[in-house]
Amino acid sequence: MSDTPVEARGLVKQYGRITAVDHVDLTVNRGDVYGFLGPNGAGKTTALRMMLGLIYPTAGSVRLFGRDPIGEGAAALDGVAGFVEAPRFYPYMSARTNMRMMAAYDGDEAPERVEEALETVELTGRADDKVGGYSHGMRQRLGIAAALLRRPNLLLLDEPATGLDPGGMRDMRTLIRRLADGGMTVLLSSHLLAEVEELCDRVAIIRAGRIVYEGAIHELKASAASAYRLRTSDNATALGVCQAQTGVAAARIEGADIRMEAGEPTIAELSVALIEAKLQITALVPEGATLEDLFFRLTEGSTPGEIEVPDRPAGVVGGTA
Ligand SMILES: Nc1ncnc2c1ncn2[C@@H]1O[C@H](COP(=O)(O)OP(=O)(O)OP(=O)(O)O)[C@@H](O)[C@H]1O
Ligand SMILES: [Mg+2]
Repeated sequence: MSDTPVEARGLVKQYGRITAVDHVDLTVNRGDVYGFLGPNGAGKTTALRMMLGLIYPTAGSVRLFGRDPIGEGAAALDGVAGFVEAPRFYPYMSARTNMRMMAAYDGDEAPERVEEALETVELTGRADDKVGGYSHGMRQRLGIAAALLRRPNLLLLDEPATGLDPGGMRDMRTLIRRLADGGMTVLLSSHLLAEVEELCDRVAIIRAGRIVYEGAIHELKASAASAYRLRTSDNATALGVCQAQTGVAAARIEGADIRMEAGEPTIAELSVALIEAKLQITALVPEGATLEDLFFRLTEGSTPGEIEVPDRPAGVVGGTA
């Protein structure tokens, strides 16, 4: 039996003419905090529903620790917990009562278990309040507490931090980090690159149902770090030099600077060309903040076939069908 937490292969979900999930392959390894990143409607929730065995795939397969959540049902979800969209509770009951009912349903009524989970998400002080009066952030945390009742090795969370205020988002990130540090494997979906960047080591970027990148965030970053900002004594002339330099792409004036994309060897050649043109360089710096640009390019083109990852870092899949 495989001990890989999640292996999705060729996963497809068709709703009439809409292909919500289109041949998704992804692998979550033990200990990963894995980001499933994509804009609204990209297919994240649908893919997570298939992973949790809540809906049937049109094609393809999912294995959680080598088991099939569709074919084997509940048994395959042993050690797996999570929620899609928003966790659901009885609003007219307290958080503690909701949690006790869930624990009983799972065949484990040990009250310590409920208390421990409430403590982990810092809701002990509000546990006797009705869930109907909970804020969105408290409800999300209670959702995680409910998942923790099952003592999971794998946590599947659908946009756990979406809709939270900045403080709530930070608390959610801290909580997820803490769970991961305790040995839990986490797959979480998000539409925020910054959140995934801060929390995750590996990422799958999904767009219109297809994975356009899967791999380490640092590799994605390395491929995105090819933008430069240049400032000279005469930007208008310098722009001409940049545009004439082989290997420089998308050179344009932005405010007091010229921005362009190029690899390091090209930048070395360009600096010589600028000096030969008698231009004084006052700044020539790589731009770190282009991961966001790359994300938008990966997720906002008109069709997946038009997307190109610069220099195709290792781990890139799809995008050219
Ligand atoms: N039950 C359904 N019936 C018909 N279409 C559906 C169904 N569920 C999802 N879809 C469609 O599948 C696509 C993907 O939806 P999904 O909810 O998986 O996206 P998402 O990435 O979770 O988006 P969001 O960030 O808004 O939550 C959308 O076009 C959606 O309309
Ligand atoms: Mg969703």
